[in-house]
Amino acid sequence: MKKNKNRVVVGLQWGDEGKGKIVDLLAADVDIIARCQGGANAGHTIIINDKKHVLRLIPSGIFHPGKVCCIGNGVVIDPFSLKEELDLLSSQGVNFDGRLFVSPAANLVLPYHKLIDATDERNRGTESIGTTQRGIGPAYVDKVARNGIRVVDLFATERLRHRLEYQKTIKEKYLAGSSDERADIDRIFHDLQHMAAMFRPLVADISKYLWDSWKSGKTLLYEGAQGSMLDVDLGTYPFATSSNTITGGVLTGLGIGPQMIDEVVGIVKAYTTRVGAGPFPTELVDELGEKLRITGDEYGSVTGRPRRCGWLDLVSLKHAVRINGVSSIAITKLDVLDGLQELNVCVAYDINGHICSDVPLDLAELYYARPVYRTLPGWSGDTTGLTQFEDLPKNARHYLEFIANDLGVEILLVSTGAKRMETIVV
Ligand code: GDP
Ligand code: IMO
Ligand code: MG
Repeated sequence: MKKNKNRVVVGLQWGDEGKGKIVDLLAADVDIIARCQGGANAGHTIIINDKKHVLRLIPSGIFHPGKVCCIGNGVVIDPFSLKEELDLLSSQGVNFDGRLFVSPAANLVLPYHKLIDATDERNRGTESIGTTQRGIGPAYVDKVARNGIRVVDLFATERLRHRLEYQKTIKEKYLAGSSDERADIDRIFHDLQHMAAMFRPLVADISKYLWDSWKSGKTLLYEGAQGSMLDVDLGTYPFATSSNTITGGVLTGLGIGPQMIDEVVGIVKAYTTRVGAGPFPTELVDELGEKLRITGDEYGSVTGRPRRCGWLDLVSLKHAVRINGVSSIAITKLDVLDGLQELNVCVAYDINGHICSDVPLDLAELYYARPVYRTLPGWSGDTTGLTQFEDLPKNARHYLEFIANDLGVEILLVSTGAKRMETIVV
């Protein structure tokens, strides 16, 4: 694997592909790790010395001493969640002084956003999205409507007060008469004044910093959150998140140009999972789905919700490869498939008798998509922790090669366990 490449790490499915583990691994060889979108809806798991860490806002390079971590303008930051994460890191002896920076242009997720998220979900009734209820959608709504409160506003007390007061008028429908403490603007104003001190040493012009670093030969790693099928434009809208989770989001979310990206690495779980509602053509709602959930420990790292599980879907993966410009992939959780006699991979959709190899962007059609499967032989034996491609069972290698050939990409890494070292560098 070539060092000194500026890489994007992006999830190619519906999130939780194992981005945290892979970013932590790749971070060893770079100087700077940057998050560009999403917020505390993300949960990126890293296991170090048998201890599990789940990062939500802080980039997954933070456990490498000396590496710089940046949170870009495209991220929506819940200051209370960031504080929790920073406190936890401090209590674990992780020193981030002078190596964690936040864009002043990032929008804040405030308590009323979470209240609105919960209210909207309730109002959607049977059509609820199953959001993480972290206030992500409502915060991005404010950003695009130009009503957002940004990190920089924390340092202008009068402006902050004024902008918060304005929220009361535009969010009257949600906030008026509410006894929920998340609607209490005075209290939020008070708490945010304390938060300003936490943010002050973190604030930096991330776009400029990344540019200067790149010019001076530093290596950058861009960490995506969520997954391509949750992209607000090209995912399974409206069952999506509210940001661009694909490579395009790296450019706008960090204020960088495409010349600062050398390679896009797509993260692919060896099967498929999804949390929340929305179409999932290869979902297994049977014993096998349950077996994958248990073996893969498929429970949301943020909400603890059981993840829906199913076979690998090469149709949606091809879509994801195209919209991201992916040239290489890291395949994770191969070990979870150990012992299955046969594996299905979806190679096309049957939509009302029409065989289709593209993702229909009309969701109504995707709901009726019946997967057309190719069946591949499984393997016996334990792949957990293997570090050499040649040591994998023949059928496991065949499975991986089938995926890479079909997608027209190279395999960079294969993950055979949750720990850093349980990885094959191809
Ligand atoms: P992310 O959101 O993409 O960073 O993924 P999550 O951390 O939410 O979910 C991935 C889960 O799979 C975590 O619990 C990881 O510790 C775990 N994991 C990552 N890679 C592997 C692997 O190769 N094998 C197994 N068994 N678990 C893995
Ligand atoms: P990471 O980075 C998996 C899903 C939610 C819901 C939809 C919208 O850990 O892969 P939101 O709260 O964003 O408005 O919810 O998106 N979702 C994720 N699913 N992994 C994530 O992040 C997710 N972030 C959001 O479950 O279906
Ligand atoms: Mg996750």
